[in-house]
Amino acid sequence: METSTLINAFNNAGQGHVFAFFNELDGEAKRRLLEQAAEVDLEEIARLNATLLGGGAGAREDLFSGLAPAPYEKLPENGGDLAAWRAAKAAGEAALRAGQVAAFTVAGGQGTRLGFDGPKGTFPVTPVRKATLFQVFAEKILAAGRRYGRPLHWFIMTSHANHAATEAFFRGNGFFGLAESHVHLFRQGRMPAVGFDGKILLETKGSIAMSPDGHGGSLRALERSGSLDLMEREGVRALSYFQVDNPLVRAIDPAFIGWHFTRGSELSSKLLPKAYPGEKVGHFCVKDGRNVVVEYSDLPEALQQERDAAGGLRFNGGSIAIHVFDREFIRRLAGGAASLPFHRADKKIPCVDAGGGLSKPSKPNGVKFELFVFDALPFAKNPVIIETRREDDFSPVKNAEGVDSPASCRRDLLRQYGRWLAANGANVPLGADGTPAVEFEVSPLFGYDEDSFAESWDKLPQKPIVRNGLCL
Ligand code: UTP
Repeated sequence: METSTLINAFNNAGQGHVFAFFNELDGEAKRRLLEQAAEVDLEEIARLNATLLGGGAGAREDLFSGLAPAPYEKLPENGGDLAAWRAAKAAGEAALRAGQVAAFTVAGGQGTRLGFDGPKGTFPVTPVRKATLFQVFAEKILAAGRRYGRPLHWFIMTSHANHAATEAFFRGNGFFGLAESHVHLFRQGRMPAVGFDGKILLETKGSIAMSPDGHGGSLRALERSGSLDLMEREGVRALSYFQVDNPLVRAIDPAFIGWHFTRGSELSSKLLPKAYPGEKVGHFCVKDGRNVVVEYSDLPEALQQERDAAGGLRFNGGSIAIHVFDREFIRRLAGGAASLPFHRADKKIPCVDAGGGLSKPSKPNGVKFELFVFDALPFAKNPVIIETRREDDFSPVKNAEGVDSPASCRRDLLRQYGRWLAANGANVPLGADGTPAVEFEVSPLFGYDEDSFAESWDKLPQKPIVRNGLCL
């Protein structure tokens, strides 16, 4: 687009201030700002300003009328159908042997709460080897590929901010033993941040404050990057989706994959019973006959606390961002069959003020717009939700300390290794709270779930003593 046309478009949209310092910039800086500006969909920003900044909370009542908990497949130990779970696992294993599944990690987040300098996937997380999040997933994917005789493709969504560092990290580590041809990194889209008045914020005099468009941006990024076409060429029908911050996840879970395929599901999800009424997870619900996830911050307190006839929490189904996506479902959504809604997040956004000075706000001064992946749920045919156990699937690294921190995650990894060892007859010394009293580690290449662990353990001619520093 012509420079003047672009600038005019911004002027006409009431966003002309984006070019307030244009004449102070050198040629290269001008080019960069124009390039960024061309990425901005001004109509979309105007629409979001009208809907999300306009204080349109009037419809909330309606949002919750008739809301019910979503049905799900219970684990056999909680009354679920053991035969159906067994059949699902067999079907999932068959799909893996046929190469119909790929792994997908969303790693484009900013990781502000952890405060780690670098892509979050490069954060060291395991107790002894200090293996990074990316290494843990890579080894799980490598091991599953070996187990089923078909190397898995792994798609990783990065952001503009962390793409180069992520790529360099994989390259510097030899892709952790995976074939380079099977690791696919691609960038997610970006959205400009706006002030509470709807004006696009400038990060510097020559750049717009842009941020990643949320994990829901992954669906359009998969299409745009050619990943869906690649999957099709390779015969991959489904993506096992998980987040970069959760090393406990069963990245490749045959039973989950099997439920997805046997039910002809377009989007399958794992559910975790909430640990306590106010736990900060989304809630699986049904609204107007469609499955939805309602964020914890949106579900009224009364519903969060409501009890059922048996005394349990009525809205108990937590969403932990583990899914299986059908490839063609993603293509349909990305092609415009349905558009996911943007959400508003109020943030402290460093920006340039009208006088050209940099302001570092101490309280939220603007809004970022994000798409959430679970908003795809109501559009999916035959969605399946299955129950999982927290200790098998969920211990994210979100915060620097306390709940969901590196320390709690390391503890949960240690407990998981300890359970696998104890189940196979090893003597694991435990502390008062049930956590192993020694620091040891199981590489996913040895075992990444109880089955693969037991197989490797059986083959060991001599069983090792569980002690500090043991690495299997
Ligand atoms: P979070 O919601 O925890 O956000 O992301 P975050 O950006 O990583 O961390 P904070 O909130 O700044 O502390 C959950 C998952 O979604 C990915 C993250 O990388 C993480 O795997 N994500 C999030 C994206 O890939 N893109 C985004 O735009 C946002």
